[in-house]
Parts: sequence; structure tokens; C-alpha cells
Amino acid sequence: MIRFNDVSFSYEHGEGFAVQNISTHIGRGEFVGIIGPSGAGKSTLLSMINGVIPHFHKGDFYGEVLVCGKDTVESTCGEISHHVGSVFQDPEAQIVSMVVEDEIAFGLENFGIPADEIETRMAEALKMAGIEHLRRQSTTALSGGQKQRVTIAAAIALRPEILVLDEPTSQLDPVGSRQVFRTLKRLNQEYGITILIVEQKVLLLSEFCSRFMVMDKGRIIMDGPIRQVLEHNDKLLELGINCPRVVTLTKLLQDASLYSGGYPVDVDEAESVIRKIMEETHDQYQESELSVQ
Ligand SMILES: Nc1ncnc2c1ncn2[C@@H]1O[C@H](COP(=O)(O)OP(=O)(O)OP(=O)(O)O)[C@@H](O)[C@H]1O
Ligand SMILES: [Mg+2]
Repeated sequence: MIRFNDVSFSYEHGEGFAVQNISTHIGRGEFVGIIGPSGAGKSTLLSMINGVIPHFHKGDFYGEVLVCGKDTVESTCGEISHHVGSVFQDPEAQIVSMVVEDEIAFGLENFGIPADEIETRMAEALKMAGIEHLRRQSTTALSGGQKQRVTIAAAIALRPEILVLDEPTSQLDPVGSRQVFRTLKRLNQEYGITILIVEQKVLLLSEFCSRFMVMDKGRIIMDGPIRQVLEHNDKLLELGINCPRVVTLTKLLQDASLYSGGYPVDVDEAESVIRKIMEETHDQYQESELSVQ
């Protein structure tokens, strides 16, 4: 679906390369979480998939990015938008309409979707994003989190093959964030949409994604299945990436030689690990008690 062949990019007015020597590919139906410290190049990477780079942000572009087999430099932003839906870091910059339903209809009309289908898709997208009640609201009166949901609904309505999202839950509370991730998982599983998401909430990512890309200083420094990447939690902490507490706890248990298995990725898994350890240490304790007697 997406292929980066030795890609480097420096912004016209930037200092040095924002991304450097990126070579990777993302297959159909993958759900990829991108993490890394501020300035690592995460947004730049996403902008190279939806064509914002090089069509909107100018600079020096090396290598090639192929999206659904098409070179993003040779395609127009409009062409790319038929394959890639985007949710940007700042919802304010993305919303162009005064009313929520117009914002969602805007993209659909641009794509030439017939009126009756616009209605069906709008209703579905509003429901999936959890904002049916906001349909006729003015976009200027919305909270930051509500604006984020509107941009998600607008992107979903277009039913893209690929969805790139840049910190789409930064202004949502934990319940709202989880709801967005559930929706994304559904889109990924039921519609086979390939998803790339930049997100600070690593625990949520690790619950929902299948693959992590870790970026630092414009490079992808780790890339693989969630558990495999989380095992390098020392490195993640060094980069200032907030490791899920279940991972930090597992590391402590490993350091105390109490556990040697894989890393749990959610609280339920961590609970079963801890219960197992408690049972084992309890048995050991009872055995030593017996031998003393
Ligand atoms: N429009 C721009 N013009 C010039 N330099 C830019 C521009 N956008 C980003 N950069 C620079 O490119 C580098 C990568 O930035 P990018 O925004 O991709 O990082 P990021 O990982 O998304 O960071 P954050 O977590 O803060 O969003 C940084 O050094 C940044 O200063
Ligand atoms: Mg960013």
C-alpha cells in the first residue's frame, strides 16, 4: 500500500533534514502506531503519504514515496486524496465549513458522491465518530475534542483505503480517546482500511495497533510488532516516550528475576502475569515453610 524508498526531506525554511533515509513499506490492512519525541519527523512522515509534501510544503525531496503504486511527486494531492484520508494534528486548520454536516458533505461532494449516498455515509460517519448530536451545530462553537471528532468523521465518510491520523485524540479525555481507537479498529477490521496513527498515548496504541514505528531525529529507529518494540523500553524511556505502566512494571519484575516471559500490552494481560507470579511465589513460600517445619 505504501512504500518509502530511501526518502529524505528538508523543509524550504527548515534546518537540515526533517526525515532521513526512510525505507519501509506498509501492507494493506496494517494498523501502525508511530511514536517518537517532538521534532522526530512523525508529522513529516505522514505528510509524505497524503501528498502534503511535496505539494503543499516545499523543500528538498530525495527518494520516492509510492502510495497504492503511484509516485506521490507525480500525482496531484486530489488524486492521492482518493486513496488517503487525513486527520491533521490541528483540527482548527482542517475544518473549512461553518456547520458540522457541511464539513462532512464537503469532501463527499468534491468526490462526486450522489446525494442519497452522501446522506447514508454522513449518518454512518457521524455515528462512528460519536457526534450524531452535533450534526447541525456550528463548527466554531465546538470544543477542541469535538472538532477532532468532526475531522475524523469527515475522513471516515470518504472511505479511504488508507487513513493517516496525526495525534487525533490530543484534546480528548481517556473515554473519548478509547472510543476513537475502537472506531479505528472497526474501520481497520471490518473495512480493511490501512491505518497509520501518530499518538502520544502508548498504552492505547499498544492495545489497538499491530505494529510500532519509533522515530528519532528524522529516522525510523525501531519498527516491528508491538511487543518486540516494547521490550526495548529502556531505549523508549531514554527518548522520553511514556512507556505504558504495565511495561515498566514488567521490567521491574524481570529485574527482580520474578518474570521472564513476554511483555503484556494491556492491563488484563498484566493482571494475569502478576497473578501467576503470586501463585508461584506463594507455592515457593509454602514449600520453604514446610521444609523449615
Ligand atoms: N513547515 C516547516 N518548515 C520548516 N521546518 C519544519 C516544518 N515543519 C516541521 N519542521 C521541522 O522538521 C522537523 C520534524 O518535524 P515534525 O513536525 O515532523 O516532527 P514531529 O515528530 O511531528 O513533532 P511533534 O511531536 O512536535 O508534532 C523538526 O525539526 C521541525 O522543526
Ligand atoms: Mg507532529
